[in-house]
Amino acid sequence: MTLSQFLEIMNGDLANEWTHLSFYLYHASAVAGLHAHEYKEFFTEAAEGEMRHVQGFLDRLFGLNYTQPCQGPKAFAYVSRIEDILTLAIKLEEDVVTNYTQRLKQLDDLAISHPETAAYLKVFYEDQIKDSYEDAEHMRRLVA
Ligand SMILES: [Fe+2]
Ligand SMILES: [Fe+2]
Repeated sequence: MTLSQFLEIMNGDLANEWTHLSFYLYHASAVAGLHAHEYKEFFTEAAEGEMRHVQGFLDRLFGLNYTQPCQGPKAFAYVSRIEDILTLAIKLEEDVVTNYTQRLKQLDDLAISHPETAAYLKVFYEDQIKDSYEDAEHMRRLVA
């Protein structure tokens, strides 16, 4: 794994983070039903968290001189029932945990040629895993 190969993968992760930001922001307004008011706040806070993730990935990619980091989200599903939104959100967060666990393995490979950068990026990805793991856990409790 070369650094430029890893940065391509990281740019794909940035695309997903943009998508998550849009997903939560969109559904903060799309949410309907008796508890829509509380969930608007909940999804708005989730969007704010994703905004910090997007910024983290952008800062890392620019910091590592990646030419043009991803500028926006991919298309995502739209629903309005709270349970449906939460179910989609749980899937998003669980996929992140799976993907970033894979990144830790790929960073072991990158560490052969770039030990310091790989060590730093492990901490970065571990923080992302922690956020997504805890968010998924929390939302599984909400739909239980
Ligand atoms: Fe995220
Ligand atoms: Fe997230």
